[in-house]
Amino acid sequence: MSGNRTFTMIKPDAVENGHIGAILEKITAAGFKIAAMKYTQLSVRDAQAFYAVHSERPFFGELVEFMTRGPIVAAILEKDNAVEDFRALIGATNPAEAAEGTIRKLFATSIGENAVHGSDSDENAAIEGNFHFAGREVY
Ligand code: RTP
Ligand code: MG
Repeated sequence: MSGNRTFTMIKPDAVENGHIGAILEKITAAGFKIAAMKYTQLSVRDAQAFYAVHSERPFFGELVEFMTRGPIVAAILEKDNAVEDFRALIGATNPAEAAEGTIRKLFATSIGENAVHGSDSDENAAIEGNFHFAGREVY
C-alpha cells in the first residue's frame, strides 16, 4: 500500500523569482495538507548528502551550487497516495517536457533549475523528511 506523506522543497530559483505563494497555493489546492514546513538554506554538506544518489553524475557540482545559493522552503505534505500524486502535480524534471498546468511547467526555467523537489518513493520521503525535520516539528 502506498503511503500518505511526501517531502518537497521549493528550490532557490522559485524563491528568487517570487513564486513561493503561488506554488503553495497549487499544492494546497491539489489537496495536500502541510504536516511540516520551514524556510531555510542548505549548506554545501547538506546538499551533497541530500543528493548523494547523484554524486557520480556530471551535473552534481552544478546541482549542489544551485541548491545552496539561496533559501528554500522545505515541507512534508500529506495526502492519500502522496508521492505519486505530488510527482504528477510537479511534472517532468525538464520543464520543457512537463505537462500543461504542472508546477514545473508554470514556474521552472530549465532542467537544472526546476522550481521544486518531490520525493520519488515512500522510503525516500521518510528519509528526506527526517533529514529536515525533528519529530516535534511534524504535525
Ligand atoms: P528532484 O529529485 O529534485 O525532485 O528532481 P527529479 O526527481 O525530477 O530529478 P532527478 O533525476 O532526481 O535529479 C535531481 C535534480 O538534479 C538536477 N538535474 N540537473 N543538468 C541536468 O541534466 C540535470 N539533471 C537533473 C535537477 O535540479 C533535478 O531536479
Ligand atoms: Mg529525484
